[in-house]
Amino acid sequence: PVLVVDYGAQYAQLIARRVREANVYSEIVPHTMSLEKMLAKDPSAFILSGGPASVYADGAPAVDSELFESGVPVLGICYGFQLMNQALGGEVAHTGAREYGGTAVTVSPDNTLLAGQPESQNVWMSHGDSVQKAPDGFDVLASSSVVPVAAIADTERALYGVQWHPEVKHSTHGQAVLENFLYHGAGLKGDWTTGNVIEEQVAVIRSQVGDGKVICGLSGGVDSAVAAALVHEAVGDQLTCVFVDHGLLRAGEAEQVETDYVAATGIRLKVVDAADQFLAALDGVSDPETKRKIIGREFIRVFEAAAREVVAEGAAEASSEDEQVRFLVQGTLYPDVVESGGGEGAANIKSHHNVGGLPDDLQFELVEPLRTLFKDEVRAVGAELGLPEAMVWRQPFPGPGLAIRIVGAVNQARLETLRAADAIAREELTKAGLDREIWQCPVVLLADVRSVGVQGDGRTYGHPIVLRPVSSEDAMTADWTRLPYDVLARISTRITNEVADVNRVALDVTSKPPGTIEWE
Ligand code: XMP
Repeated sequence: PVLVVDYGAQYAQLIARRVREANVYSEIVPHTMSLEKMLAKDPSAFILSGGPASVYADGAPAVDSELFESGVPVLGICYGFQLMNQALGGEVAHTGAREYGGTAVTVSPDNTLLAGQPESQNVWMSHGDSVQKAPDGFDVLASSSVVPVAAIADTERALYGVQWHPEVKHSTHGQAVLENFLYHGAGLKGDWTTGNVIEEQVAVIRSQVGDGKVICGLSGGVDSAVAAALVHEAVGDQLTCVFVDHGLLRAGEAEQVETDYVAATGIRLKVVDAADQFLAALDGVSDPETKRKIIGREFIRVFEAAAREVVAEGAAEASSEDEQVRFLVQGTLYPDVVESGGGEGAANIKSHHNVGGLPDDLQFELVEPLRTLFKDEVRAVGAELGLPEAMVWRQPFPGPGLAIRIVGAVNQARLETLRAADAIAREELTKAGLDREIWQCPVVLLADVRSVGVQGDGRTYGHPIVLRPVSSEDAMTADWTRLPYDVLARISTRITNEVADVNRVALDVTSKPPGTIEWE
């Protein structure tokens, strides 16, 4: 693999994704991993990521200078570029001149790294320190008005570096820089595809599971649907899917999963109606983290009970008698893994129900075939496995469901109000053809807030609904979607006319960060 060494910014994931977009397999490793361990992964190239530190700061993350002697091609980006310069004898200075945002650079297009590029171009910069002099043996390939050395190359040793962020779309020719490095600098072929992923994962699943029994919690979302389809491909009827109706679903959702998924895949499905159990456990709870923990716990309880039933049913069919269900499939994605295993000091923003919410005494062994994939890759795998388009392109919906979209305690009446408003918003967005344009549009009920309105001839004292349409590539960051006013108007009119108790519709115009996508 290409190893992306993470120096602690959010850019490492983006770099890894862009490398895969060039059809080269990549993995992220923390900068704290020893060089020996990195080399044991047999890397085809290293990319050193950007990071928030200054190379001069106390305790600034460092690089083992032997990495540059290992014979493996290296690309240093931003902080990684400065580390490289520092380690190899260049000059990195605290000049006080900062560059942040879109910046013009002049490049020399006759070197491998920048071959074929326009001489003046716009790139995305974000740095305080700057490189004044390149190390011996390196050519300087680019400069800006502030930085004399903005890109370097030692073609012979296959060592390259850029001060800017080629992984960011604002760097107009960024992807070409990465591809030049991968294909020409490191001599790699772009032949990694989602087809490889399926083949590989099917083999891995078979060897992990053997002839054991497996259950998979199906949420109706893309991740669990694709994970289940992969496991089904690998071990067929050893798999039983469990769909938990926790009473926190949107209108029509349970029926959709029951009919569409089974029809599309032929996978055996158990539907568990656990609405009373979840609502009782959530009674009177309004703290977001408490809600999430309760829901995570109840999910596992339901899975455990379902696993016992699967065993009992198997026994009734007189197959292997007391064989336990040992494996639980989860649709965990690469960003979840990186975030939960990743970077020291990474704050726990919220407990995603299937990552932070698992009990310690979990009796299942986890099967997580999507652990190395990003969302867009999961969609590609789903499509290749023949899942219907509507399923593959379904917008994300959180496992804890509408419970984390009711700000306040959850009860049946509030769920009904939110469900009705949500159904209207979804219907209008679909009608307007906007489903692919937005990443998702949470609809939130501010259950503890009331405002005065006038409806019909009288005064009302109802609750606001908030629309939270967002655009995103991977949910790590997001921007609010500029929906057309007439669509917003239709949604607002319909919700206030058709949903009792709601007399106001508000639009959330916050990006992530600082807001998260969901309100809780
Ligand atoms: P936030 O609110 O963290 O959401 O910006 C990022 C993405 O994750 C979804 N989300 C969840 N998905 N279990 C899930 O399966 C959860 O507990 C959970 N919390 C948030 C959210 O809908 C968005 O797509």
